[in-house]
Amino acid sequence: MWNAMYRESDRRWSGRPNLRLVEVAQHLPAGRALDLGCGEGGDAKWLAANGWAVVAVDISDEALRRSAEDVGELSAGIDFQHHDLTQTFPDGEFDLVSAQFLHSPTPWDRGRLLRRAAAAVAPGGVLLIVDHGGGPPWESQMKDHHHHVFQTPQEVIDDLALDHTQWEQLRADSVDREMTGPQGQVAVIPDNVIVLRRRS
Ligand SMILES: C[S@@+](CC[C@H](N)C(=O)[O-])C[C@H]1O[C@@H](n2cnc3c(N)ncnc32)[C@H](O)[C@@H]1O
Repeated sequence: MWNAMYRESDRRWSGRPNLRLVEVAQHLPAGRALDLGCGEGGDAKWLAANGWAVVAVDISDEALRRSAEDVGELSAGIDFQHHDLTQTFPDGEFDLVSAQFLHSPTPWDRGRLLRRAAAAVAPGGVLLIVDHGGGPPWESQMKDHHHHVFQTPQEVIDDLALDHTQWEQLRADSVDREMTGPQGQVAVIPDNVIVLRRRS
């Protein structure tokens, strides 16, 4: 399904890093980062360019192919891995685990996946989850997208079932962002931003 979605156009996303990733990661010391559902690799490339050693994962071969296409000298800093994250997960611990718009129109246990993501955060490291807090008006007209349930930041945090003595909540809020649709339409939609730090 994801391969088919990517193949509908030459480029699905902007190629730029996600605003919320940059907002958070620019204040962190570079270390090991895990990008879950990396899409076309905008975030992985930004992280690598800023000194991070990145593992970038996607279920779509096509997304991974595009991500690796123009990676140039940053390739030394990015390990692209193919996983269906509901089945397999990269090895290791990471100073930053980032899930940017890791949504899917197919039914899946995203809570379980995100609990696995939290378990991959190294002591002192950060878990960053950025979700769509709502859909743009044009999305209801797109096939496959109409069953999506938008969770609040608190619902996502509750699903993580973290031990609060081990984790510090740095941020859990909703920020509006302007989004451009497939036909160039513009809408303002909320980004839900969750930043949690595992205590050292
Ligand atoms: C909405 S896109 C977001 C892409 C990217 N993070 C961004 O912000 O541009 C969701 C991405 O998650 C990937 N994905 C969906 N389900 C997945 C799964 N089970 N395992 C790994 N990746 C998955 C999709 O292929 C897609 O690239």
